[in-house]
Amino acid sequence: MVTVNHQRVPRKRTYLMCSPEHFAVEYAINPWMDVTAPVDAELAVKQWDRLRETLVNLGHEVHLLTPERGLPDMVFAANGAFVVDGTVYGARFKHEQRAAEAEAHRAFYESQGWRFIAPSETNEGEGDFAYVPEAHGGLILAGHGFRTEIPAHAEAQEALGRPVISLRLVDPRFYHLDVALAAIDDANIVYFPGAFSAASQKVLAQLFPDAVVADDADVMAFGLNLVSDGLNVVLNSEAAGLAEKLKALGYHPVPVELAELKKGGGSVKCCIAELRR
Ligand code: ARG
Repeated sequence: MVTVNHQRVPRKRTYLMCSPEHFAVEYAINPWMDVTAPVDAELAVKQWDRLRETLVNLGHEVHLLTPERGLPDMVFAANGAFVVDGTVYGARFKHEQRAAEAEAHRAFYESQGWRFIAPSETNEGEGDFAYVPEAHGGLILAGHGFRTEIPAHAEAQEALGRPVISLRLVDPRFYHLDVALAAIDDANIVYFPGAFSAASQKVLAQLFPDAVVADDADVMAFGLNLVSDGLNVVLNSEAAGLAEKLKALGYHPVPVELAELKKGGGSVKCCIAELRR
């Protein structure tokens, strides 16, 4: 592989996370969840804590949301809202089992004085919305097909004042946008084409001609469920192939182990919401 000498510049981020103290697989709302497979909540907390430490050691600020008993998926903090330019577009979960999480997120943002816009439409926050600030002047990419509904894309555009590009997800294993696509810096993305309809693949190729294209192994290892600060790319340790690809492009992969949370159908990005001022 050719090593390209790009100057990658990290930008300090502010994140929101929620400890998996009450994590469990009590229901199955995505194909990764198996209610009969044992989950080690203590190990989940340890692995999650390493992720939190990793972000702090990279110089980022991490806010914490208080986990609530009876909300076993609350660790997946990305789903609770979507924040762009200091405005918070709230979530409205598809499944009843997660509905109450939206309220916990709203309370957090309101207590911190953020401008909060309550949604009328079904959407799962940053699980299905991604923001690429330097692409085409600031672009929101939005998934639909499994969780977030198309009307929420228009609602998000009105709430946030940034163009929203609707992308159709077609593979139930990749039920949220953030398991199939991620921003790797302020202008570029990585994605797995097979998760999207043929037309949506065409749209992505037009908007992001330099995108990193991921393969089957990358997506199955939850490699795309990453967070990047523009240089450091924190991703699931199983995604060794994707880490190599990113390294060759001048990024600095930072692998973390999150095997327990994978049983809930999530990895790095699912655990992290970005608070964008
Ligand atoms: N068990 C959770 C669900 O199915 C996992 C959510 C993963 N979060 C994400 N941002 N993809 O809703």
